Amino acid sequence: MVKKVSAKAPVIGGKQYHIDCGPHDVASSVLLPGDPGRVSKIASDWDGAKEVAHHREYHTMTGKFQETPISCTSTGIGAPSLAIAIEELSRINVDTFIRVGTTGGLQKKHHLGDVIISTGAVRLDGASRDYVISEYPAIAHFEVVQALIAAAEALKIPYHVGITASTDTFYCGQGRPGFQDYFPSHKAHIVKDMQLARVENFEMEASCLFTLASLFGKRAGAVCTVIANRVTNEFNITDEYQKRAGKVASLAVHILEGWDKEKRKTKKQWTVPAIIK
Ligand code: URA
Repeated sequence: MVKKVSAKAPVIGGKQYHIDCGPHDVASSVLLPGDPGRVSKIASDWDGAKEVAHHREYHTMTGKFQETPISCTSTGIGAPSLAIAIEELSRINVDTFIRVGTTGGLQKKHHLGDVIISTGAVRLDGASRDYVISEYPAIAHFEVVQALIAAAEALKIPYHVGITASTDTFYCGQGRPGFQDYFPSHKAHIVKDMQLARVENFEMEASCLFTLASLFGKRAGAVCTVIANRVTNEFNITDEYQKRAGKVASLAVHILEGWDKEKRKTKKQWTVPAIIK
């Protein structure tokens, strides 16, 4: 039997088509790693974490972190598959998104294992241009940025804060020669150009996340662990590195929940908490 689904938003049996989740499967705050294998590693810090779906690259678990409901959905690598996750999670009432990933640091100060908290992203992806002109900014929500900083401080994890560049490709797009040294001239200076522009890091999803979140009226942020340094040419990934961004983001969700409660109590739309007492 052929099931009828809306062409506007395919929903099958109450579940969003790609992520296979319905409105009661996820919390209002969702962490977004690229790798489906990282979801259970991140959720291992939560209480009562349960797998709610695993379809294609989209693996979702939901639980509680320090009593705060929280979910994690992997997005796959890159902006096109991330855009599908943001579309479908938005439709089931998610309001806060935090990308948690790994990244290549562009400045000498970025040690392997540090985390980088993005304030905005250079839109070197193609998918976000399907949604809005390229002059539209990709900015992280200031409350999420502050919560991530507060979390990194509390966990004593070394962190940097600044602009990220999100590319569609790991190799040529990030200034790494391709197969058999294929390297087009228009990418030969991308590392230098981004360094000059004081960009902190390369990754592959933040710009599309920030753009879509702004368009949809959602909050978004990103925290990524440095596994490569493009100045020193170091590269290393450990289990601890993979979990680190997830720890910062889980605590940030809990911090945001506290601030949101205060906002509701005091009927304020925004909060600007201080970390210096
Ligand atoms: N992820 C990226 O996109 N680039 C890196 O260099 C490391 C992780």
